[in-house]
Amino acid sequence: MAAGGVSGVRKRRRFVNTAAAITATGGLLFGYDTGVISGALLFIRQDFAPLSPFMEGIIVSFLLVGAVIGAVSGGPISDRFGRRPTVLIAAVIFGIGALAVAFSPSVFILVFGRLILGLGVGLASMIVPLYIAEIAPADRRGALVSLNQLMITIGILLSYIVGVIFAPVEGWRYMFGVAIVPAIILGVGMFRLPESPRWLFENGRIDRAREVLGRTRSEQEIELEFKEMEEIKNQERNRARVSYRELLEPYVRPMLIIGIGLAVFQQITGINTVIYYAPTILQGVGFSEGGAIAATALGVGVVNVGFTILAVYLIDRVGRKPLLIVGLIGMVVSLTLLGFVFATGGSSGVTGVLATACLGLYIASFAISLGPVFWLMISEIYPLRIRGTAMSVASLANWGSNFLVALSFPIILAGFGGAGAFWLFAVLGIVAWVFVYLKVPETKGRTLEQIEAGFRGVEVAGSRRVR
Ligand code: BGC
Repeated sequence: MAAGGVSGVRKRRRFVNTAAAITATGGLLFGYDTGVISGALLFIRQDFAPLSPFMEGIIVSFLLVGAVIGAVSGGPISDRFGRRPTVLIAAVIFGIGALAVAFSPSVFILVFGRLILGLGVGLASMIVPLYIAEIAPADRRGALVSLNQLMITIGILLSYIVGVIFAPVEGWRYMFGVAIVPAIILGVGMFRLPESPRWLFENGRIDRAREVLGRTRSEQEIELEFKEMEEIKNQERNRARVSYRELLEPYVRPMLIIGIGLAVFQQITGINTVIYYAPTILQGVGFSEGGAIAATALGVGVVNVGFTILAVYLIDRVGRKPLLIVGLIGMVVSLTLLGFVFATGGSSGVTGVLATACLGLYIASFAISLGPVFWLMISEIYPLRIRGTAMSVASLANWGSNFLVALSFPIILAGFGGAGAFWLFAVLGIVAWVFVYLKVPETKGRTLEQIEAGFRGVEVAGSRRVR
């Protein structure tokens, strides 16, 4: 029985908040493990000297290779065995990866450890938003799922800070090793959390689904959501197990295009190159080396966290689409200006201030739009039956594009120069804006079933058409 009255509401709210916060530790590990390499590489290079540039590239990029594999496997595992076991697997993988890298006696084990960490990152990137979306009430789903993105940005920032702390003792092993702490928190915390009610429902464990939903919803809301889930289920022919082939069915296609589109645009508008090249960008316009490098990295990290907090606040109030529309404009404007700063090639004080302002505007604009909204939307738009598998495809597109951008950026830079690279990202930002404007629906305030009904072109208990 769901508890009634004010204390019941508070209790349910507390449960959902706690569950989201624990699960979002997976986001923290995602951010930390992707960010930590930039501070550690310098010392790894010394410890394993001579390290060829090729081997360095392998150490850096094998995390992305692992992430691609993790993202692809996560969906089918979570559709078949449940969301909770998938998060638990991610926690164990994060733990093993942290230890493997921290204690690596050779470059070979180090690369292996990075691959394992990548598996964890890829898995977490899709399963964390999925789990949170499925337990969250519709009116707070945006904020709760976006806690994941907030934790990603905090993880990146922490990785810079830990990098600065351990730099004096050249402690790259500690930098990786400390990630064992959030991995344990995620594992132990998740162990105490229930399976997602929607997954339970889909797999015929109706009583347990009702019980879990009772911890997060009022009786009335439970009835409504159950009715919606049943109506959606009745729409489906009796089909056996989910397969990747099902993703090609006509009614799924628009959602697939939206997920993949947002995934690719999140990466090809340059976020990771800007994050990692920020110190170089500022050096290029006259900033000094050394302390300035650490300071810019921290500055970028802080702006990213700060504006993600703003996004968490806004996302259920103004909706997802307005954030995308406004944020993308900010990204395009800042990238265009950055291009001009580079094209004019000055290194005066004014140029430095302008470049810093553009960088800040770009990060802030990403943080309120493509950053959180992509991961949120792919947890919302897919039908329950194939949600995990479809999210895997979108995450795969994201990690694949991340990898390709990382590989091609040096080539683009050599071919077009800094200005050309920023303008290229700006043009892609304009294409992204048009895509969002034309294709992306608003999902604010709707239950997952109402969103699904909208795509299927049917009505459920409390639904309006999505588009
Ligand atoms: C992206 C990452 C990026 C991070 C920056 C995430 O949403 O998927 O690629 O590094 O945001 O905040």
